[in-house]
Amino acid sequence: MIDDIIFHLGEDRSEYHDAVVPPIYQTSNFVFNSIDDFKRKVADELDNFVYTRGNNPTVKILRQKIAALEKCEDALITGSGMGAISTALISQLRAGDHLLCIKKPYSWANRLVKDLLTKFGIEVSYFESDTTEALRQMIKTNTKVIYLESPNSLTLEVQDLRAIAAIAKEHSIVTIIDNSYSTPLYQRPKELGIDIIVHSATKYLNGHSDVMAGVICADKTMIAKIFHTEYMILGPSISPHDASLMLRGLRTLPLRLQRSDETALKILEYLRTEPLVRKIYYPFTDATAELAKSQMSGCGGLFSFELHTESKEDVNTFNDALDKFFFAVSWGGYESLKLPILAFYDNPGRPNPSIPFQLFRIYIGLEDADYLIANFKKAFDRVRND
Ligand SMILES: Cc1ncc(COP(=O)(O)O)c(C=O)c1O
Repeated sequence: MIDDIIFHLGEDRSEYHDAVVPPIYQTSNFVFNSIDDFKRKVADELDNFVYTRGNNPTVKILRQKIAALEKCEDALITGSGMGAISTALISQLRAGDHLLCIKKPYSWANRLVKDLLTKFGIEVSYFESDTTEALRQMIKTNTKVIYLESPNSLTLEVQDLRAIAAIAKEHSIVTIIDNSYSTPLYQRPKELGIDIIVHSATKYLNGHSDVMAGVICADKTMIAKIFHTEYMILGPSISPHDASLMLRGLRTLPLRLQRSDETALKILEYLRTEPLVRKIYYPFTDATAELAKSQMSGCGGLFSFELHTESKEDVNTFNDALDKFFFAVSWGGYESLKLPILAFYDNPGRPNPSIPFQLFRIYIGLEDADYLIANFKKAFDRVRND
């Protein structure tokens, strides 16, 4: 039961004077009573408290809740989503291995794969979201990991998680998915056969645009393996203070997600009637709807659309008039956001993206639907009248 996980799991108030809110154990270090005590704790550092780079009581509460939400046995919390993605990928690969990566993962995940992993002798091939059978043909004897992001966070492509997990299992390949878009409330990849689930918890899981965090969820043995090597060596841990803020954010995750989801649906309904909208990218529409609905129970507040124009001037006009949406990267907080792809065009020394300049990524936060629709109307009218 989600409420039980969010409100109770992992919280033993007798350990902290019956305080409602678990304290922030703002300590890097823990003291041992004896040599035996030290030996016992160091032998199982994942479940005891030795040093906060490994484990901390505030962080441990979060680990239990996140793991349970993802239907996994255990979880690690990191200081950013990229901390989680890097740690998870590096833990499963060594020189000479082959990684199969989804075509358009989050940009820095792509940089990790393309620029860093290859530097250490890992071979990488990319596959398209809608080609599960072609993926089978791409598997080599040295393929060790399939990396997924479904839906991806810009063009919202969906991968067939059940089918990919089944193929991977036939070949003893580890599957890793970035589940930031859906959160465990809308998609539980473990139940579909995926091995490792990572998140940018900076997004919905924290939800207030004030903490950088990430999570890695998997079976106990997998988490222990990652913990004792990559997590302890690379040191991507979260601070106890940020873990406490994340616990606070998590309390309202179901409410926030439902609000963003419902408002986004109303806004999409309006955008579908707007002649200046050429194409909408949203997992529950068009070609991907059936597959998406078979593995997700909602979409939340993130979608993209293309403005129906060939003029960059129009895109600028629309962007300036859409002033109730902050122009910012990231998403998943309380505030609505816009990301105009035009901003990535015509930058010295950088190639233009393969994504149309007319595309806007929109994140719907917690504001009222009519308030946001009024702002869209103003922006579309400004383009029409200019
Ligand atoms: C889908 C997705 N995954 C991962 C990340 C990386 O997370 P973080 O910024 O917390 O390192 C992001 C960040 O924008 C993202 O959008």
